[in-house]
Amino acid sequence: MYPEVIVIRQRLLSKTYELKLAPSMQCIIDRTIETVTNPASSITDILKIIEIDPSISAKILGIANSAYYNRGTNTCDLHHALIKIGLNELKNVILCLLIVDNLLKELKIRFSDLLEFWRHSIYVAHSAKILAEKTLDYEPQKAYIVSLLHDIGKMVFYSEIDDYSKITHGVDVRERPIWETERECFGIDHQEIGYIIAKKWRLPETVCSVIGNHHNTCNSENNNRNLLKITRLVDGFFYCQDTNGSPEKLILLKEKNNIRMEVKKNMAIININSHAG
Ligand SMILES: [Fe+2]
Ligand SMILES: [Fe+2]
Repeated sequence: MYPEVIVIRQRLLSKTYELKLAPSMQCIIDRTIETVTNPASSITDILKIIEIDPSISAKILGIANSAYYNRGTNTCDLHHALIKIGLNELKNVILCLLIVDNLLKELKIRFSDLLEFWRHSIYVAHSAKILAEKTLDYEPQKAYIVSLLHDIGKMVFYSEIDDYSKITHGVDVRERPIWETERECFGIDHQEIGYIIAKKWRLPETVCSVIGNHHNTCNSENNNRNLLKITRLVDGFFYCQDTNGSPEKLILLKEKNNIRMEVKKNMAIININSHAG
């Protein structure tokens, strides 16, 4: 590794280790993951998580009163706002809100980069959820969470490396994977950074392990093989939509419009929050 690359690696590592999690956040994240992945959880369970966080509560009210959910009357009641948005939508969106909110307190990311990052993450998350539902390979909501967070390490690159999006845009990911370019230019890749963040947040080991290995094809010993397989497959499909006869990719192709609509809707929500933040 060249000395200048070692310096960049050290800088990125220090920034990642320095990232602070608001003290109240750890407990909120734990409870959110538990609630979101529990099929029996209700709107009241979600209300209990967010009502103690004024910033998230304000954002939920903003979403409920946005063009997507507002049916003529504005609401300032949190419970009413949650009902308007609906349980499934809330489960999908609430973790995004928590993460964006918390990470953006410490990372300065250009709005265009943030949109690009979330468009990809939300696309992969929805696709993984649909695939898990159709193939019964894994619990859909867990597949959603893991896929939503799979590239979380990229947020540090977006924040710390000025031309990160230019560097990665110039590369055809079918020819050369992004992580290889990152390793060569910065001495570290977004899997390693993402794994450190996931560990710092004390996310479940399943989630940490997929974040840290989603581009690694030689980890057949991994306990989360199905989750890894789903994440890797939908991530790859985002960049190249050739199905090559793969039944999973054919499902994704068939669900293309459905996935696109969901991504559009969720992006609109993130947009609201970025401006409101
Ligand atoms: Fe990735
Ligand atoms: Fe990705």
